[in-house]
Amino acid sequence: MYDSIVTGAAGFIGSTLAERLLADGERVLGIDSFDPYYPAQLKRRNLARALENSRYAFREADLVAFRLDRCLDRNTRIYHFAGQPGVRGSWGPQFGQYVTNNILATQALLERVVRAGHPTRLVYASSSSVYGQQPRGAMGEEVLPNPISPYGMTKLAAEHLMRSYAGAHELPLVALRFFTVYGPRQRPDMAFHRFFRWASTGAPIEILGTGRQLRDFTYVDDIVEGMHRAAVTDRAVGIYNLGRGAPVPLMTAVGHIRRITGTKSPIQRFDRPKGDPDVTWADTRRATKDFGYAPRVDIEEGLRRQWSWQQELLRPRSR
Ligand code: NAD
Ligand code: UGA
Repeated sequence: MYDSIVTGAAGFIGSTLAERLLADGERVLGIDSFDPYYPAQLKRRNLARALENSRYAFREADLVAFRLDRCLDRNTRIYHFAGQPGVRGSWGPQFGQYVTNNILATQALLERVVRAGHPTRLVYASSSSVYGQQPRGAMGEEVLPNPISPYGMTKLAAEHLMRSYAGAHELPLVALRFFTVYGPRQRPDMAFHRFFRWASTGAPIEILGTGRQLRDFTYVDDIVEGMHRAAVTDRAVGIYNLGRGAPVPLMTAVGHIRRITGTKSPIQRFDRPKGDPDVTWADTRRATKDFGYAPRVDIEEGLRRQWSWQQELLRPRSR
């Protein structure tokens, strides 16, 4: 059987975490439906290295239907990343995808865990989007959630589902609220991925809103390390922020990108999109206290690492 199961294992963060577990010597099962939100080609690329490992098994399957209970034994841990991400795309007809992949898939997963009958540790990839609009300052987990996008609402609904199942079945469930994650494999709809792509051709960099919005950008390896620590530390239970704890205005990050790439791309401004908060800012003291979370990578170093990955991705022969 498996030491760990990773849902959403072909995605940006899930594929990075699966490799980390394999490097630790674990037997890992990855599950992903190759949801068409972005090209399967990128997801297959994310998976390639893990698939070379004989301790890795991968199933292409939708969590809503997958009989996960058959893959669980007493000590298996679950890292639940599968979901429909993206704040700005969650309005309109796409909302059904958010309900299916964030709420129904999480409920199906929880039912399967209950059916298996083990006290499975399940760690969920929640989101800073549950905070929504808040005063400018660090947000602790006790702040009343105030999602302002349909996406944020579905992530909060999934947290509440986890809480209901944890209470009813005495399950050790953990929800980690990630703050805008970046680094190698970042999704192509996310800001830095788009900015590097535009910078590489000299195309205009599109800024949504004033560019003064604060984001607590967090490097993917710091998230993966935090998620892993939360999964293996028994006293980690409930909700935790995983952020860098050092937010920057969007335009500061753009300045780093312009320097790193040497681009002459002009800036083009657009209206602030609905559902985009002014500020995200993690108070991470609870995660530090309970499982020693300590993010290490600063924004300039993290952007350099993302750029070196993205240059490889942009090379014509590697597409
Ligand atoms: P991603 O889209 O790269 O990865 C998610 C993966 O889940 C995709 O490969 C998709 O095919 C798969 N998936 C979706 N629905 C599924 C289903 N029903 N069954 C099986 N697989 C399914 O996204 P990501 O950026 O790696 O985010 C991973 C998780 O972390 C998401 O739940 C997201 O909401 C959350 N999160 C991400 C960020 C961020 O900044 N990237 C921040 C906060 C929270
Ligand atoms: C990100 C993820 O996409 C969500 O899935 C996740 O849940 C969320 O982080 C989170 O922290 O919980 P977002 O903060 O919108 O959401 O991340 P980016 O796409 O990197 O956008 C950052 C900022 O850049 C936003 O203010 C956005 O409006 C802006 N942006 C984005 C631009 O100015 N131009 C673009 O082309 C894209």
